[in-house]
Amino acid sequence: KRFSIGIDIGGTNTAIGIVDEDGNVSFKGGIDTPGHGDIARYVKDLAAEVTEMAKNLKLSNPDCEILGIGIGAPNGNYYSGTIEFAPNLSFRGVIHIVDLLKKEFPEYKYIALTNDANAAAIGEMIYGGAKGMRNFVMYTLGTGVGSGIVVNGDLVYGHDGFAGECGHTTLIPGGRLCGCGALGHLEAYCSASGMKRTAFELLAKYNGVNSILANYSFKDLTSKVIYDAAIQGDEIALEVFEITGKYLGMGMATTVHHLSPEAIFLFGGPTAAGDLIFKPAKASLEENLLPIFKNKIKLLPSRLSHGDAAIVGASALVWKEKSK
Ligand code: BGC
Ligand code: NA
Repeated sequence: KRFSIGIDIGGTNTAIGIVDEDGNVSFKGGIDTPGHGDIARYVKDLAAEVTEMAKNLKLSNPDCEILGIGIGAPNGNYYSGTIEFAPNLSFRGVIHIVDLLKKEFPEYKYIALTNDANAAAIGEMIYGGAKGMRNFVMYTLGTGVGSGIVVNGDLVYGHDGFAGECGHTTLIPGGRLCGCGALGHLEAYCSASGMKRTAFELLAKYNGVNSILANYSFKDLTSKVIYDAAIQGDEIALEVFEITGKYLGMGMATTVHHLSPEAIFLFGGPTAAGDLIFKPAKASLEENLLPIFKNKIKLLPSRLSHGDAAIVGASALVWKEKSK
């Protein structure tokens, strides 16, 4: 049986899966995405974890074959195999991640990189809810906000390979500072830290109001905490989801106007909140759409189980390289 390894480099965690050709994840592992900025050390740690997982696969599956590694990463470039100036990673400048992994794994013939949100879009397209769809967009919500665009059945890379940075759509002139240095981008409102900033703004605005969120420091206030508070009826937490959904809908409307997709998929931690995020996002999307698009665009959660879209999508890059 043949397998490939999918790696999803996130702002805080690096998830790894050993995946078969049908998109089933046989082994799952991961390491923290470090804040130390030392790429050589990170690659060593990553390689050690991958090697350990591959060893376990071979123990349970003696005649298995691993063909290669596919990686999804913020600001990852498929053409050059480099991660470039990622605002949400500690590694500075241009990182030659494919070359670095080729040195660690000379036995693997195919090692390829794409943007993390592109990987999620590929996963959804091949194994998930976008099967058979020719035009759709994947939005990923996490440390950053990313997107992968599929037009006429193909992922769009663009001239330089960086197409699909919908998280950096400008929503508010002179608005919040984004991790990339610009002002008012969607990511500054809808990322994990964007949701926190909204929560703290609301706590300040309704100074003294009783909220579960007031018990948390900026560091400890995760989107899971906000979600738990919201389902207990915490009004500030509920408003955080309302506001996040509103901004997300504005951004998605712009995406629809550019691309006329059949559907937009949402992926990532906050989507576990279901209607809390989908309802305001859908309402805002509809409110901002041209009449020709109204009530036509499906807004759907990623349908891959366990949030595996990005790792299985990354692993699928290997099959793609092989068939070239
Ligand atoms: C980056 C994207 C990435 C997204 C999610 C954004 O800040 O610019 O490349 O896909 O975060 O990680
Ligand atoms: Na992308």
